[in-house]
Amino acid sequence: MSRAPLRLAPLDAAFDRTHFCSDSEPLNRYLREQVSQDAKRRIAACFVAVTDEGRIAGYYTLASTSVLLSELPAATGKKLPRYPSVPAVRMGRLAVDQAFMGQGLGGALLADALLRAARAEIAAFAMMVDAKDEKAVSFYQHHGFISLPESPRTLFLPLATVQSSQKP
Ligand SMILES: CC(C)(COP(=O)(O)OP(=O)(O)OC[C@H]1O[C@@H](n2cnc3c(N)ncnc32)[C@H](O)[C@@H]1OP(=O)(O)O)[C@@H](O)C(=O)NCCC(=O)NCCS
Repeated sequence: MSRAPLRLAPLDAAFDRTHFCSDSEPLNRYLREQVSQDAKRRIAACFVAVTDEGRIAGYYTLASTSVLLSELPAATGKKLPRYPSVPAVRMGRLAVDQAFMGQGLGGALLADALLRAARAEIAAFAMMVDAKDEKAVSFYQHHGFISLPESPRTLFLPLATVQSSQKP
């Protein structure tokens, strides 16, 4: 198993996407076949963890979205201005290659995505994720995400909590 040091970077055409193999075939196929088109059309931005040899060990995508105030838990909505919706960032996809699972890479990619969104100059209230199954729900809950009351597989994390935890 490879123990090469990893670095996080925006997806680059030079990286090897063909051998990426996570537990999820749709997520593997997306990286192989779709992500470059989405990036070119500014539908999603993709960031990857790569080895020294350019092998992709994990990736995530980010895009703009919005969330209706009425979808948020009442306690959260109460603290927000009475707009119909608030801006957010959607992490559409997150996957780690099987050879790198269980070593902290998924958590590191999630932390990188949260920091990137929290530091962006364009405001967003929260990071939104769509968990593909109950295992993914529990992964996100483990990292502090909260389920929307009416659609528990969609979860959010207010980005203000990320910013405040990064202050010295
Ligand atoms: C979900 C996934 C990204 C996790 O990646 P990973 O590298 O194996 O996870 P990590 O080793 O970084 O785990 C980080 C932390 O999350 C915890 N964790 C991992 N999977 C978990 C789960 N299903 N439920 C609860 N906690 C979980 C780990 O215990 C670890 O906790 P710690 O930091 O307190 O020690 C990976 O399993 C994957 O690619 N799965 C297939 C695709 C997928 O489900 N994507 C999710 C979005 S739909």
